[in-house]
Amino acid sequence: MKINCPICRHDNLLNDDDLPRLLFSFQCESCNTLLSVKIQVNALNVVKTGRQKTKPGERKNQIAAFIYENKDKLKLPVLPILATKIRKVRNDPDGSLNDVVDLVRSDQTMATKILELANSALYGGLVEITDLKMAIMRLGLNVTETLVTALENKQLYSSDTASVVTLLEGLWEHALGVAVTAQKIAEHVGHEQTEEVFTAGLLHDFGYILCLQVLAQNESFNVDFCQLSNDEFFKLCEEEHAKLGAWYLSEAGLPPRLTNIVAHHEEIPSEESDNQDLHIVALANLLCKKVGLGLRQDSEIRLDLTESAQSLNLSEVQLASLEVHCEDLTHQLMDMLK
Ligand SMILES: [Fe+2]
Repeated sequence: MKINCPICRHDNLLNDDDLPRLLFSFQCESCNTLLSVKIQVNALNVVKTGRQKTKPGERKNQIAAFIYENKDKLKLPVLPILATKIRKVRNDPDGSLNDVVDLVRSDQTMATKILELANSALYGGLVEITDLKMAIMRLGLNVTETLVTALENKQLYSSDTASVVTLLEGLWEHALGVAVTAQKIAEHVGHEQTEEVFTAGLLHDFGYILCLQVLAQNESFNVDFCQLSNDEFFKLCEEEHAKLGAWYLSEAGLPPRLTNIVAHHEEIPSEESDNQDLHIVALANLLCKKVGLGLRQDSEIRLDLTESAQSLNLSEVQLASLEVHCEDLTHQLMDMLK
């Protein structure tokens, strides 16, 4: 592989077998400039190119294209279904509390966890509850559905590959943060179905989970997660994650109103400017980035100047109080779901 130094124009020759990973640094042997090198991955074929000169869009779609093309051969995460079944029962005029109890009971681990949460400091009453139906009654159906959704989604953030665990933990903190924040914003603006934006918040960055699982499982991508920084990971997947996540969730049968939020949470197109749920999740995403819930923090973000805050009529003071409240609540919930 030949890497042309952008400073002195010297052609550095590297043995292809010595290439350590997708992103690495090395010193130009002529002028000693430290160069950053990015190897582009095109499906399973590794195409090597020197960096500093990557044209915009060159890298675009490569990991996503690989996933689109190989979805039937890849081991991709299976989406949880219990929360969806609970929502169906709740939306069914003939559905009853007993139906919800039976559904939760059908998953023994979930039933134990729900009992535990009903007796936890946040939801616990004076008397300890040992019966699942009583536990669900104490929590209420809204909270039960929210907790089941969160517990099921948490399972998507585990891996046997030790090097990706930190990334997954950060992504989980962000997902839960956005879910909790979206629900709080929804309550604040008088929204009726807050469980839906909670789910949308949990799934908004699902594209990153797909990229991470695929990069970790397919050695052909040659990604060394021990060396890859968080920023480098996000740079690799950022461009396509929203579209990719929406595509996968839609293939899995999730409704368009949810996949639409996932597809546009980073940038709201003009035709979606009236979509209140989308504004709620987009704003929750920015709020979590501002307070540092997740792997990245940008404390300079001015939430009050966003189109979403203005469209939801949230003042600077209300946003500041949401920041504090949602950060606390996310940490409390994270601890409880451990
Ligand atoms: Fe995102």
